[in-house]
Amino acid sequence: MYDLQTIHLKINGVEEEVSVKPYATLLDVLRDQMGHIEVKEGCAVGDCGACAVFLDGVPACSCLVLARQADRAEIVTAAGLGTPENLHPLQEAFMDYGGIQCGFCTPGLIISAKSLLDQNPHPTRQDVKVALSGNYCRCTGYEQVIEAVLAAAAKMDGRDG
Ligand code: FES
Ligand code: FES
Repeated sequence: MYDLQTIHLKINGVEEEVSVKPYATLLDVLRDQMGHIEVKEGCAVGDCGACAVFLDGVPACSCLVLARQADRAEIVTAAGLGTPENLHPLQEAFMDYGGIQCGFCTPGLIISAKSLLDQNPHPTRQDVKVALSGNYCRCTGYEQVIEAVLAAAAKMDGRDG
């Protein structure tokens, strides 16, 4: 038997409280208990990047974090970067450039791309490749994804992303 632990998370700007099992990962809790199905489960062992979220501003594989370790953390998922009416330039560019096919990898790619552009608003193609090297995509061949990130960077040039 185990005791549930109540934790507090701020997810995409909304304060939430949830009771978690001691061994539940942040990924499990976000998806299965809190309905954040935009956070994808691929490998569940830190290899594919599908489950990436910002955890207190830093990109993290949510499958590698115990939910209780994230108590009182601020989490931003790919869905939290924009709204359907006002997409983030990265979200828009992924659609415009064909960076989304099945879409399974997309939330994780967008988190990695956002992290890159936060640190380096003028990335080279090689910078983008390196920044996305921890994210697997089985559909696009990556070219459209790279084009999308470069296009978003150009669009965001001089703007707060
Ligand atoms: S599901 Fe977390 S890295 Fe693959
Ligand atoms: S779009 Fe299908 S895995 Fe990337």
